[in-house]
Formats: sequence, structure tokens, C-alpha cells
Amino acid sequence: MKPYVFITRKLPEETIVELTEKFEVKMWEHEDIPAPREVMLAEAKKASGMITMLSDKIDEELLSAGENLKVVANLAVGFDNIDLKAATERGIIVSNTPDVLTETTADLSFALLMAAARRIVEAAEYIKAGMWEGWSPYLLAGHDVYGKTMGIVGMGKIGEAVARRAKGFGMEILYHNRSRKPEAEKEIGAVYSSFEDLVTKADYVVSLAPLTDETRNLFTADVFAKMKKSAIFINAGRGPVVDELALYEALKSGEIAAAGLDVFEKEPITTDHPLLELPNVTAIPHIGSASTETRTTMIKLCCSNVKSVLTGDSPKTIVNKEVLQ
Ligand code: GLV
Ligand code: GLV
Repeated sequence: MKPYVFITRKLPEETIVELTEKFEVKMWEHEDIPAPREVMLAEAKKASGMITMLSDKIDEELLSAGENLKVVANLAVGFDNIDLKAATERGIIVSNTPDVLTETTADLSFALLMAAARRIVEAAEYIKAGMWEGWSPYLLAGHDVYGKTMGIVGMGKIGEAVARRAKGFGMEILYHNRSRKPEAEKEIGAVYSSFEDLVTKADYVVSLAPLTDETRNLFTADVFAKMKKSAIFINAGRGPVVDELALYEALKSGEIAAAGLDVFEKEPITTDHPLLELPNVTAIPHIGSASTETRTTMIKLCCSNVKSVLTGDSPKTIVNKEVLQ
């Protein structure tokens, strides 16, 4: 019998041929609606390999159900949706999709920053709503980007790619990260900074931090209070690094100027969320790596990883290397 692979969303057939040639593959029937928990558990029980989304909760219960499960290939660079310890204990390989999405996600992060700074979404809504009655000097006037200071929290590959873009905009770049990045310091001129110094000095505070025990709830009311009144907060990493109520208060009271958010504490965010009432919030639905080219490349990388594991090879991008030993 061919090994069984379950993919938790409907993906284009042509992107998964590497799997369909060799394995029995089943996809969940919807592209945009997640599979219910019962389906996930039943499929995990049968599957040797799974391709999962960042919105799927791959917890201990699901991993235990996976009696034959050898690999979980997550269609994302982040893997906070997966109980890594439980996977490793069971010898299940977890893979992600780093590198292939770096530049695409940096593009989006910068676009979000530009949109928040220059009020692009607000301006587009304004014109479509028929509100434009004539040119005026301060109509939809925003904030300059060129020459300002960017503070990047979470200086991984995406952070460095954002920093390169910022350099092209004549920005000063501060960064905060668990480890120093000597190459980014040398090549881009990024300056290592304490978290406190960074949030105090930056005009644009850009969070690209992964979600870990250390980063959960990192941006609290105290942190927003330290930022400049003109500061713009961008989050293109993970939502739960932010106390959203504190962010709301900071934006509402003018403690900071604006925010651009691609990620939220709870996704999808619902329209009754107070953040979405604020004109100075530019909110987009977790689309950092969503270019057609990059999403296709990410899917193919997941397929390659599943195939490698199920044919006894090492996957290209493994998260829990310990399992191979
Ligand atoms: C997106 O958020 C990812 O982790 O790839
Ligand atoms: C703006 O369009 C200008 O001409 O200054």
C-alpha cells in the first residue's frame, strides 16, 4: 500500500504532483475553510505525512493520533501552531518553509509600513466613497518614511531583508534580536539596540519576531507608552506578541500615531474588534508571503519535504533536527 498523505487545504493539483505520483494523497475539500477537528484527527490517524497550515493546531492529541505519522510539513516559516516537543518525542519530523518567502514577506512588510505611513488604504477608501471634493494642502497628510529611524524587533532573514529595503529609503536602522547579527551590522549598517532603546527611539517599530514563550505579549501598554507619539507600529510576525487592547488604547489616545497589522492575536480577526474601528489602523489578513509565485514555491517545498521523509531521505528544511539522530 502506498503511504497516505493528507493536505489540510485544497491546493492546485499541479503544485502537488511530486506527491500524487508516489503516494495516496487526499486534500481537504476547501481552499479557505479549515477542516473540522474531527476530520483532522481522523486523517492524522491514517496519514504517514501531512501538509499543514499555520492556522491548524497540531497539538499533542493530534500527534498522538498519528500512529503512522512521520512528517508534518507546515506551509509557513513559523511553526508556533505545532507542539514541537510532542512531535520530537514521537519521532515525527516537522518542516517549515524558510528562505523561499524571505523577500516576498519583506516586500509586504515594507508595503504595510508605507501604507500605514502615507495612509494609502484610508485614501483609497476615501476616493471610492466619493469624498474627494478637491485638492487641499493637508488632505490625508501622513508621515515621512525617507530618512526616518526603523527599529526591527526580530532580526531573522526577513528582518534583514526589510532592513535592506529601509537602507534604500535612507533610513537609520536599529534592531533587537536574541543574537547579534554582525553581517547585518557591517553590510546594512543596522545598529544593535536594547529593546527599550529601540522602542524609545524608532519612528517605525517593526515586529517580525516569531511567537515563543519569550515574545508572547512583548508589546504591552508600558512599551507603547515608551514609543514616540509619532511612532508607527508594524506587525508582520505573529499577533500574540502584542497586547491588542494596549495597542488599541495607545492608538486611540494618541500615544502612538498609527499601526499596520498583518497578524492578530486571534485570526481571523472579526469586524467587531475595536482595532478595526480606528482610522489609523491599516489591517490586512496575514498575507505576508502571499504572492502567487512564493506560495507555489512554498507548497512545492512542503511536497519535497514530505516525499524525502517518506522515501527515507532528509528533508530540505527541518525544524526538529534531533529526530534524525
Ligand atoms: C507566515 O506567517 C509564516 O510563518 O510563513
Ligand atoms: C503635488 O502634486 C505637487 O505638484 O506638489
